[in-house]
Amino acid sequence: MLNRLVRIWWAAVCSVAVLRVTAADIVPMPAHVEKTGTELVFSSFRIKASKTLSGEAALLEEALSGQGYAVGKGAKITLALDEALSPEAYDLQISDGGIKIAGGDAAGVFYGTRSLLQLLDASPKKGVLEGLHIQDQPRYAWRGYMLDESRHFFGEEKVKQLLDVMAYYKLNKFHWHLTDEPAWRIEIKRYPLLTTVGGTGSWSDPNLPAAYYTQEQIRDIVAYAAARHIEVIPEIDMPGHATAANRAYPELTGGGTPDHPDFTFNPGKEEVYAFLTNVLREVSALFPSSYLHLGGDEVSFGIKAWETDPDVQALLKREGLDDVKGAERYFMIRMADSVKMLGKRLLGWDELLDVGVEPEHTVIMWWRHDRPGQLKKSVSKDYRTVLCPRRPLYFDFIQRQGDKWGRVWNGFNPLEDVYRYPDTDLDKWNLSETEEDRILGLQANLWTERVQNEDRMDYMTFPRLCALAEAAWTPREVKDFDSFNRRMEHGYRLFDRLGIRYFRPDRKEPTGPVRKDKEDPMDFRD
Ligand code: ACM
Repeated sequence: MLNRLVRIWWAAVCSVAVLRVTAADIVPMPAHVEKTGTELVFSSFRIKASKTLSGEAALLEEALSGQGYAVGKGAKITLALDEALSPEAYDLQISDGGIKIAGGDAAGVFYGTRSLLQLLDASPKKGVLEGLHIQDQPRYAWRGYMLDESRHFFGEEKVKQLLDVMAYYKLNKFHWHLTDEPAWRIEIKRYPLLTTVGGTGSWSDPNLPAAYYTQEQIRDIVAYAAARHIEVIPEIDMPGHATAANRAYPELTGGGTPDHPDFTFNPGKEEVYAFLTNVLREVSALFPSSYLHLGGDEVSFGIKAWETDPDVQALLKREGLDDVKGAERYFMIRMADSVKMLGKRLLGWDELLDVGVEPEHTVIMWWRHDRPGQLKKSVSKDYRTVLCPRRPLYFDFIQRQGDKWGRVWNGFNPLEDVYRYPDTDLDKWNLSETEEDRILGLQANLWTERVQNEDRMDYMTFPRLCALAEAAWTPREVKDFDSFNRRMEHGYRLFDRLGIRYFRPDRKEPTGPVRKDKEDPMDFRD
């Protein structure tokens, strides 16, 4: 419904203002931009905002000071809420009398300030702004990025930089993959071995000392993100991808395969449910997000061991379950109950659709692009659904034919495919209006088996993150890939200033500083 309303609203806006509609040097491109023919000289500035918007005002002041503008008698910037606007929407007016930013909520005001910062950064005459009236709101409510820190650990400073750039491009969900096979990265006070033992090693070096986030660091990062209107959603993967936890507490294991030893938690052991519920209790208290992500993916990698495990076999008998798939379902439904008991909503990968968890309490992340049937099942069974298909939204995959940086997996994920998502697929899927309304938005995922340091993390992320931001924010009718590429010139300058190493479609080699890769060739295929 919302998508349809946005389209109707957009058509109405175009019909009254078509002659003056223009573009602005902003990524993601706003829904509607009108030139007003005036000009504002911006040398010093003063911000007027109510108490409720003091956080947004402080971050704007900090960013403007960072761009070299001083607080003074110059341009007056007014920040205000406007109940007539929807959540996250904003209205930005620049005239010779000053700047007014109104938002449907504090997030909308914040996004208006990000647009202003980008306009100042892109202005051909430093300190002069063209008169504009921007009316803007996102296409999708979910605009997310996932970082896997189990395979490789990047740390607080790098994560904060990522959050800064996400906020600059109006992304609003940070999905944090904190546990998996190589390591467990979040401190749980009740089970210290999870980090002191489970936190050691990485995908590329099993001998590294323990690296993880303390609860204090987690609280700090969550608050940092919240100030930038980013919700942080933790993922504690289960019952598969549990190897690091099982290394710390071997009594929990349900076994695995020679390639994936101790891959699962044991669904037949009662103490596993108590353990995981205690873990989720601590996690849930650390993250204000209404979601807990329990993974639920690829259990088939390790489920074979359940066929001969005495505890699982006893469970099947006791509960009258047909087979080990039944044990997986039983496990997931019990853990979904724990999530509900903690007052949270369940988030999980699309395998959860085969488990029968309740649609009203669950959000599905559709990742298996080669199984469009799973997406259809999700939206037709009333699950709110986030699109994060491997093609084109897994950012660990290489970005062009022959590129030697990143993972080679049955094709590649170029910038343009990210940008154009999901429009061509939407045309193909032929979803009903109700089904399409179940799509909450888009998310890209950075798995880090082949991303072993910051250089690689940056190179795989930027500028695809910006293409994702525009795909998730900008109305379909306004998207224009050539224009995006032109506007990204300002983004590249930002990356240069931040010391970020990035991909450019017009260059063969990565751009930006070389840090850890000097003796560490990035050619790292599977
Ligand atoms: C996944 O890529 N295993 C969700």
